[in-house]
Amino acid sequence: MPCMVVVCGFFGDTGKGKIISYLALKDKASVTARAGVGPNAGHTVVYRGRTYKMRMLPSAFVYEKCRLLIGPGVLVNPEVLLKEVELTNSWDRVGVDPQCAIIEPKHIEADQKGHLASEIKTTGTGTGPCNAERALRKVKLARDVPEIKRFLTDVPLEVNEAIDNDEVVIIEGTQGTFLSLFHGTYPYCTSKDVTASAACSDVGVGPKKVDEVLLVLKAFTTRVGGGPLPGEISWEEAEKRGWAEIAAVTGRRRRAAPFNFELAKRAVMLNSATQVAVTKMDILFPECKGAKSYEELPEEAKRFIEKIEREISVPVTLIGTGPEVWEVIDRRPHL
Ligand code: IMP
Ligand code: MG
Repeated sequence: MPCMVVVCGFFGDTGKGKIISYLALKDKASVTARAGVGPNAGHTVVYRGRTYKMRMLPSAFVYEKCRLLIGPGVLVNPEVLLKEVELTNSWDRVGVDPQCAIIEPKHIEADQKGHLASEIKTTGTGTGPCNAERALRKVKLARDVPEIKRFLTDVPLEVNEAIDNDEVVIIEGTQGTFLSLFHGTYPYCTSKDVTASAACSDVGVGPKKVDEVLLVLKAFTTRVGGGPLPGEISWEEAEKRGWAEIAAVTGRRRRAAPFNFELAKRAVMLNSATQVAVTKMDILFPECKGAKSYEELPEEAKRFIEKIEREISVPVTLIGTGPEVWEVIDRRPHL
């Protein structure tokens, strides 16, 4: 399976970081390319007793032989990028496309006031104002920033060559389908499309070169910021159920609701998903914690997975049973 795109089917924060870090290690990915908006994302990776919250680098950094690329569609904050390169000591394997647009302090300032802060409740990381300036063709690009010069590389060329050589390539989407500027809950959404097609475009891969689209869904739904969340429960109730989460980038409380079959079904359509990962099963069914095989799951959990498969007509190939990279049930047929 040379090229897989990984995207979220809800409102982000479904566990893409965990799933991608697992896939990179398990499948020995030689290249991962980060797609999506920019450092508004927070992908959590728990590996060898450490928790990483990645905002710029691909979550595949845990597999030391993997090239870590950032596609031209992605907005780069050089300060955040350099911190993550240092944290993961990945100086010799990071590549940034010269056409990535650069987030400057003025973008962050604009994102933290006015309707973006009070109404949309953005992450305040400058991504919306930076994309707006990019659309006006006035934004600064990565090729003009000396601090990141050493990382510059033709990302679409690297990714396409890896695919053509039959190497394992992962395209890492960010945010979630219903935060898409086109397909999400406008105006409560992010500043560009974030479905699988957009993720491919972000890194310069055409639609015929993708083999698998993995849609990541969480066993319950959460969203941060403004906008509708069908079936939303109170924070107190979320705490009771163990669904109370704090956002990785902003530290805000995540609003919570039960798993949404309607949204899942639509996300399958919008992303042409070929397989699905369901994460945080151990939160919904504590007996699942740490399970590595489907047989270990309690009947109730199996029925939930079977219901998802019935409703969305796509196989659930990966099941998350804990935050750590290896806490996963892998039901992919080739294994
Ligand atoms: P922005 O992307 O910072 O402009 O924020 C727009 C909306 O998308 C807000 O509701 C944010 O909370 C939400 N959002 C942006 N990025 C993420 C993410 O990575 N996970 C979850 N929500 C996000
Ligand atoms: Mg997140």
